[in-house]
Amino acid sequence: MLKDWIRPLVRPLPQWSPVAITPPSRVITATLRWNGKSTDVTTDHTVASLNPLVIATSLDAGDHALLEYSDNATGKTLGVLQLTKTGSTAAGTASIMLYHVTAGEHRCLAWPRRSWNAWLQNRSMLKNRASNHLNMEPAAAQQLMIAYLYPRPVILVSVDAPGHQNIFPMDLIGPLDRSGLFSLALRSTNVSQSVMREVRKVALSTIPASMKTIVYKLAEHHKQPLQDWSALPFTVRPSREFGIPVVAQAPRVRELTIVHSQEIGIHTFFLGRVSSDENVAKGDQLHHTAGFHQAYRRKRAVPFTEA
Ligand SMILES: Cc1cc2nc3c(=O)[nH]c(=O)nc-3n(C[C@H](O)[C@H](O)[C@H](O)COP(=O)(O)O)c2cc1C
Repeated sequence: MLKDWIRPLVRPLPQWSPVAITPPSRVITATLRWNGKSTDVTTDHTVASLNPLVIATSLDAGDHALLEYSDNATGKTLGVLQLTKTGSTAAGTASIMLYHVTAGEHRCLAWPRRSWNAWLQNRSMLKNRASNHLNMEPAAAQQLMIAYLYPRPVILVSVDAPGHQNIFPMDLIGPLDRSGLFSLALRSTNVSQSVMREVRKVALSTIPASMKTIVYKLAEHHKQPLQDWSALPFTVRPSREFGIPVVAQAPRVRELTIVHSQEIGIHTFFLGRVSSDENVAKGDQLHHTAGFHQAYRRKRAVPFTEA
C-alpha cells in the first residue's frame, strides 16, 4: 500500500472518475467567450469527435473562442479550452457549430503537481497506446479531460430493428439546448452505427450509479450486437412511443428521433430530437468527470460520491 504522500509522486491521477451525481446539478458552469462577448453554454455544448477533438454547440461564437469551465461554489476557473471553428452542420432549421480544440489548460492542481501529473498520465498513455481505447494523442486526451470538468452522464443506448438489437454505454452525448437537439458521438466502428442511421430511432436510459459494473461490461456491445434482451442482468421494459427495450430502473428515459448524422474523424456524430422524455425517478446517476476535478474537490473536502 503506497503511503498517501508518496502516491501522487509516482502514480498519475486516473484520467476519469466515475461518480454519482443527482440531477439537476449545477456544480460547473461552461461559458463561451469571444470578441468581448460571453454566453452560458453549460447545456449547449458537447463532444462531437475525439480524433480530431471537436466540440459542438448551437451558438455561433465566431472563428475563435474560449470555452471556460468554472466552479459554481467558488467562482474559480478550473479549465479553459481554445477553440477554432472548423465548420457548421445543418439539421432542419438548426445550425450546429463545430469547433476544433487547439489548446487547453486546467487549474485543478497547483503547480508543480499539475505538470508532473500530466507527465505521468501522458507517459502511461504512450506506454499503453496499443490498448488505449481513446485512440488519441496525449495532448488531445488532456484537453478531453478538461471537457469532462463538466461531469458527463453515462447512458445506455438501446437500438431495436428487425434483425438487429443492441444496448451499449455512451457518455459523449449531450443536449444542444438552443437548437433543441441532442447529440451522440459514436465510434463509426460501432456495430449498430449503420442500423441507427437507417432506423433513425434510439432510446436512452440514464443509469443509477450502483449499476456501474454492469454498464461497463456492456461496452462489449460496441463490437457485437445483443442476442437476447432477456439475457441482460437487469429488467427491461418498452420505451413509451417507440417500444424499444430500456432499463426498467432507469431514473430517466429519452427517446430520440435521429435527424442528422455525419462522420467526423473516427466518429459518427448523430443529432436527434427528443420524442419523449420520461423523467421517472429522482436519485443519483452515473457520471464521468476528470480525475483532476475529483482531486480538486477532494482537497476542498467536497468530493463527488465515488461510483
Ligand atoms: C462508460 C462507457 C462510455 C462509453 N462511451 C462511448 C461513447 O460515447 N462513444 C463511443 O464511441 N464509445 C463509447 N464507449 C466505448 C469505448 O470507448 C470503446 O469503443 C469500446 O469499449 C470498444 O473498445 P475498442 O474498440 O477500443 O476495443 C464507452 C464505453 C464505456 C465503458
